[in-house]
Amino acid sequence: MNKPNNILSFLGVTLMLSACTATPVVSSPDGNIKVDVIRDGSSLSYSVSVGGDTLIKPSRLGLEASGLSLSDDLKMEIKHSSFDETWLQPWGENKEIRNHYNEMAVTLSDDSFAYTVRFRAFDDGIAFRYEWDKAATDSVIVHDELTEFAFAETARSWSIPANFDSYELEYRNLPIDSVTDANTPFTFEIGSTGIFGSIHEAALYDYPEMTLLRGEGNTFKANLAPMPDGIKAYLPSSFVTPWRTIQIGTSACDLINSGLILNLNEPSKIQDTSWIKPQKYVGIWWGMHLGTMTWTMGPRHGATTENAIRYIDFAVENNLQGVLFEGWNEGWETWGGDQHFDYAKAYSDFDIDSIASYASSRGIELWAHNETGGNIPEYEAALDSAFAYYKSLGIHTVKTGYAGGFAGGEYHHSQYGVKHYQKVVETAAKYQLMIDAHEPIKETGIRRTWPNMMTREGARGMEWNAWSAGNTPEYLCTLPFVRLLSGPMDYTPGIFDIDYERAKNDPGRIEWNGPNDYCKINTTLARQIANWVIIYSPLQMAADLIENYEGHEAFQFFRDFNADCDWSQALQGEIGKYIAIVRRSGDAYYLGAGTDSSARTLSIPLNFLSEGVTYSARIYADDPSDRTKVTITEKSVTSADTLDVSMAPSGGQAVTFLPK
Ligand code: NOJ
Ligand code: CA
Repeated sequence: MNKPNNILSFLGVTLMLSACTATPVVSSPDGNIKVDVIRDGSSLSYSVSVGGDTLIKPSRLGLEASGLSLSDDLKMEIKHSSFDETWLQPWGENKEIRNHYNEMAVTLSDDSFAYTVRFRAFDDGIAFRYEWDKAATDSVIVHDELTEFAFAETARSWSIPANFDSYELEYRNLPIDSVTDANTPFTFEIGSTGIFGSIHEAALYDYPEMTLLRGEGNTFKANLAPMPDGIKAYLPSSFVTPWRTIQIGTSACDLINSGLILNLNEPSKIQDTSWIKPQKYVGIWWGMHLGTMTWTMGPRHGATTENAIRYIDFAVENNLQGVLFEGWNEGWETWGGDQHFDYAKAYSDFDIDSIASYASSRGIELWAHNETGGNIPEYEAALDSAFAYYKSLGIHTVKTGYAGGFAGGEYHHSQYGVKHYQKVVETAAKYQLMIDAHEPIKETGIRRTWPNMMTREGARGMEWNAWSAGNTPEYLCTLPFVRLLSGPMDYTPGIFDIDYERAKNDPGRIEWNGPNDYCKINTTLARQIANWVIIYSPLQMAADLIENYEGHEAFQFFRDFNADCDWSQALQGEIGKYIAIVRRSGDAYYLGAGTDSSARTLSIPLNFLSEGVTYSARIYADDPSDRTKVTITEKSVTSADTLDVSMAPSGGQAVTFLPK
């Protein structure tokens, strides 16, 4: 779409500024959520209530930073304003999003310096950030962030532990007073009020990620990823920090249906977004994780010219748009060692020029893969020339990877890391390249501003099933309510050979990280299909070997699926137990449902379908007697019908609704 992705229509933007006499309170447009600010000398704190009940008790705000020491004499000024617009994005779970909030800016200033805490109250949560202008020194050095979240009462929570290098960790479902530290999104449920919420951040640029460290009782404090010298951030004399966010709802699904994180990001900086396109893709990938192929050149090399042609042909024949090849470029022998990759030199058995021209003659998008192993200086030095080279080959998508430690003791998630990931996104935009980042920095909604930042990993993906005990159905039922609240994930879903029969029968198999004979997919086949809907990604992979799809009746779902989504809704769900999500692309709807280790039947009213239209519903259901099989049935339905979605233990169901 060529439309500028900012403003669809103004529903009425009102701006009412009130001066210093205004009260330090801001409420959501519906009045349900309220934020109060308290000043005590030079320090500020805030509290949050929902429906009259205190959610967050007075909690500290601020930064410990040289150049930002506030004094008791600064004058305080409070400005209130309101905003309401509906905007369009070129792609997303929902192309149209309403951004409606009341704002309060609390400024402490004297003649030469201004420090502001800006609050926004939405119907689906609150946010605040720190801003300063003309700080006394050129470089503001952040030693610590003082932000606290003091829960008024205990809550149940779902999160991964804090770790400045990885998000590929197991979820914990814990009462908050048993959590020592956590990364965000940090999702919680308050038992007494039935309130669900999630703490996260939005618009993370030039600043370290925020994790949470529990202090006394139920109080959490921001804990920023440091750099090797212990400093959290070096910042200019005028700056705005990322937003600290709390999404709030009355059901767990409300959190999924919220647009708060995107709304806190700026409109697109890319004017012409016509080259940014959602895609379905396949790739030379799973074979390496299973051990039947290698990234390095040799007898089992995956990225060969012959395989490339086979995968391109498969994509053409199956209504897919993209093909990824891992292990196409020189350097894989050094991975896990001193890590030197050549981002522009193909292995000699991968004839990139002829593959690129074959792909383009068949209308297929070729992807470039850049594993860096964490060698940031070399990757940054190669970025411009490598991306110019990909552009010359007609490539529009790059999958990046950071599987390895950063040199010099830098963390992946520090200010250094955040700046690197952003440099890649902005350089990619110059060469009209979309990014799919693995081992990324967390998603904070920057896809609104940089819509070429399509998708990322940032949680345990499919690969864990190849060489570990893998991802449980409970994990898969938690993911939508925690990691996926931040944005799209390249989980690489859809394995059909769930017991790895083909790999086990391959005499040439040498397990990459094995031997791991116990490994398998821990769900039914139907749940693998449902994950194409549940785990939103604008670049959605059919991750299995194409041999496992060829001739398989159930692959029709992926053929029919459209990765270019227009609208989505989480319909039913309980964190860690089950989830049902529907998405619309054009006039087709796709439903995905999944359960934990218990069998479950969900009764789903089809009132999301267009009224007065009859749809052909194609149902991919669990075969209760065989987890490796699906039962496919078809029936006519309308929006007046209710569908009973029966799922086996660890199972799921996927449905396409096509107008008749
Ligand atoms: C980890 C990524 O998540 C995976 O998709 C990739 O195959 C390997 N690194 C190698 O780059
Ligand atoms: Ca990974």
